[in-house]
Amino acid sequence: MTNQPTQQQWGSRLGVILAVAGSAVGLGNFLRFPGNAAENGGGAFMIPYFLALVLVGIPIGWAEWAMGRYGGRKGFHSAPGILGVWCQGAWGRYAGVLGVLIPLGVYFYYVLIESWCLYYFWKYCTGGIGLDASTSVADVQVPKTHAFFNDVVGSAEHGALFSNGFHPVLVAFAITVVLNVLFVYRGLSKGIETVCKYAMPVMAVLGIVILVRVLTLDAPAGTNGQSVNDGLGFLWNPDFEKLGNFKTWVAATGQIFFSLSVGFGVIINYASYMKKKDDVVLSGLTASATNEFFEVVLGGLITVTASVVFVGVLLTSQATGGSMSLGFKTLPMVFAQMPGGNFFGAAFFLILFLAAITSSLSMLQPSKAFFEEALGIDKVKSTTLVTVWGLAGNFFVLWYSKGLTALDTIDFWVGSVFIMMVAAVQIVAFGWIFGLKRGIAEAHEGAQLHIPKIFQFVIKYVAPVYLLVIMVGFFLTYLPDKVKDDGAVEAGYWSKVMSDGDTQRTWLFLLVTIAGLVAITAIGAKRWRAQGLDLDGQHPAKD
Ligand code: ALA
Repeated sequence: MTNQPTQQQWGSRLGVILAVAGSAVGLGNFLRFPGNAAENGGGAFMIPYFLALVLVGIPIGWAEWAMGRYGGRKGFHSAPGILGVWCQGAWGRYAGVLGVLIPLGVYFYYVLIESWCLYYFWKYCTGGIGLDASTSVADVQVPKTHAFFNDVVGSAEHGALFSNGFHPVLVAFAITVVLNVLFVYRGLSKGIETVCKYAMPVMAVLGIVILVRVLTLDAPAGTNGQSVNDGLGFLWNPDFEKLGNFKTWVAATGQIFFSLSVGFGVIINYASYMKKKDDVVLSGLTASATNEFFEVVLGGLITVTASVVFVGVLLTSQATGGSMSLGFKTLPMVFAQMPGGNFFGAAFFLILFLAAITSSLSMLQPSKAFFEEALGIDKVKSTTLVTVWGLAGNFFVLWYSKGLTALDTIDFWVGSVFIMMVAAVQIVAFGWIFGLKRGIAEAHEGAQLHIPKIFQFVIKYVAPVYLLVIMVGFFLTYLPDKVKDDGAVEAGYWSKVMSDGDTQRTWLFLLVTIAGLVAITAIGAKRWRAQGLDLDGQHPAKD
């Protein structure tokens, strides 16, 4: 029995691969990855990064593709519906709520960063952001680019973007939201697939053009002669000491999940629109490989290298960090000094915008599908609901903009911690509850590549243990206060949540969102039962 008011399908095999790759390639590749790598040991970061790719990213990705496709055949397209089936019980359904919260919650802030990209793009199309290349980088340009960025994001105080009339970045925000809603309303094939089909090649071509430009840069006159090699060295020279720090391992694992959109609630939804005999193994691998090209080759080589050549290691390292601000704070100084800088600036922010929109569309579709199947509503109503809910989150983050605490809190919990939790539920459901043999047999339906035996071992034993260790380490690293070598106490997350009003307010907002999604899941379960769907996956004979 089908459960979908409007039955949807991908237009082609390439379409679904491009859609998943489009979801994966995003701001995480161009902004988060270089910042993370530079902060966590450069070349040494790549060791836990590639380990996480092989031990959890690719295997859990395969499991997610297989789970989604199977769930779709059972009549489900949302994480609560599908995980209920795979976990064979209501607990999986409620754990699956996180698989809706993650895309929706990340959308709350992601679409704002997307609109910053559109705004910067517009600025470069109309003459740049007013930097004078002849002025001192450290004394004039750095304060100017930082002030420009802080003004665009409204970090001075809450409601800054709405004071004195309203900030023009809100126009970019409005356009960004309208585009997202429009494409998601048009549906899988006509909307998401079409956007990804055009956006991915444009991004690749523009990315390669910018990369070639960056790798042939000369240090500008009057600098200390930093070369492309210095830039590459800053990013890639290994600082092996960082490997002893658990933060590096957590950052690398978090980066893999965020970047591949694995454990995100997206792939499970996208794969649910595939047919039984559509390949998932080779498709999953292709989408991951595409993401790694954009991340390691383009994202890793462009941003940091250009920044070091033009503004030096010190200023670059001040703007890196897990945050996404490097591209906004440092690259404008690079473009100001480069011949044809406005063209390259516009091209760079266009790539970021395209990368972001193909990802943010993938964050709306899971909630839309969830509302349709849980509440039995049509696509007009589900699109309206997801738009309104998304806007509520956007305005929360837009208004509580001081110091970007609301944005960072959601990014940290929803965009890092919860993703690992969903990934853990998925791999346990696949390898242990549903059963590895059965799970692999399902993944191999129509597969053009078989999952190698060694990976079956990884799925069953290595990935769950790896995730457990990272998660325990994560809480031990981030929650308690820390006494530093000089005796000073660094507040941990727990103290922060107990004392900081902005963090508390953001948590309250998230808890209300979770409560709403749980309630809708309960309504959905009733509907699914009444429809006679196998909602707890207890009837394997019907597979
Ligand atoms: N996977 C998306 C990104 O990297 C969310 O930005």
